[in-house]
Amino acid sequence: MIQFKLTFSPEVFAGPDSFERLGEVAKKLGGNCAFVVIDRFLSEKTDLKEKTIKLLEDQGIRSIIYDRITSEPTTDTGNECVCIARENRCDITIGIGGGSALDTAKAVAGLIKNPGLIEDYQGIDKLKFPSVPKIMIPTTAGTGSEVTFTAVFVREKEKKKGGINSKYLYPEAAILDPLLTLSLPPHITASTGMDAFCHAIESYLSRKANFFTMPISMEAMRLIWKNLPVVFKDGSNIEAREKMLYASFLAGIGLANAGVTAVHSLSYPLGGLFGIPHGTANAVLLPYVLESGLPHTGHLLEEIAWNITGKGVTAKSFIEMLKEFEEFHGIPQTLTHLKIPQNSIEQLVEGAMQVKVPLENNPVELSRQDIIKIYQAAF
Ligand SMILES: [Fe+2]
Repeated sequence: MIQFKLTFSPEVFAGPDSFERLGEVAKKLGGNCAFVVIDRFLSEKTDLKEKTIKLLEDQGIRSIIYDRITSEPTTDTGNECVCIARENRCDITIGIGGGSALDTAKAVAGLIKNPGLIEDYQGIDKLKFPSVPKIMIPTTAGTGSEVTFTAVFVREKEKKKGGINSKYLYPEAAILDPLLTLSLPPHITASTGMDAFCHAIESYLSRKANFFTMPISMEAMRLIWKNLPVVFKDGSNIEAREKMLYASFLAGIGLANAGVTAVHSLSYPLGGLFGIPHGTANAVLLPYVLESGLPHTGHLLEEIAWNITGKGVTAKSFIEMLKEFEEFHGIPQTLTHLKIPQNSIEQLVEGAMQVKVPLENNPVELSRQDIIKIYQAAF
């Protein structure tokens, strides 16, 4: 038996064309000037930026658009956004895109009301004052950032990733419109989908998993197992895109309430040191971290296998099935495939050991030696 607390946040507007409600939602939250972070791809290749400006304008809300966000955003980019938002006296933020856009919009909302730089708040519960309201509109089905309290940035000088973790970062509203995910190319669909799968399986195995999170995490895994292959092959399948978006949202609730585990600790330095996209880094490491948990977590993996594949298989066979699932989606199988130099293990281990909370959640305690072994196995 464990003690746990449950946190629920945003008001959710879901379904095809729910994006059209953006202006109304922003108005209800009292916005007069919105700082909008939108993915560069969406800004340049779709009419989403123009639509956003129009929807806000119709409600008398001014918008300041930032569309120079990169994947794995840096603290420098985040601080640039904070400056612009403060200068323009923005009183609401909107994130439209993948985890980078959403995390940035969340952090900016926090720093409009808290002085200083992003770096000052990386850690746990460092924001002193509540943020301005924020609306999250994911266009990938992956990070679940629309329902979590975290915003992650790379400190470029140190090549380290760190999250601002604060109850003030829970978004006030999320809009889950599957039509916005249709243009996502297959490789990003796969890597972001696998990030969501990691949130689901890690939160299911986490020491903080509980009666509320476990069914949610399981349902997220079931939906991803069924629908990721469909959207990978046919990105225009709206029904499967919708299921993926809900799965990512559910996995985000699992993550926010039960946490993630060692996969995320070990993947952070791959992003910080080598710029490997978050979802890909997690996906590559997942089978090796799961192997390290055997036999302790075997019964749980068998339970997962039965529920998501309908097959009664051993935990080892399930891990093999997972590797095949990833291979089908073009996910590299090893760190060697990612061109990570083998002599970087020491640095990777140092980095991973600093991402403490997910390591503490891991169902099996991992020593420094255990972490070295997992990285070695992954090469
Ligand atoms: Fe993640």
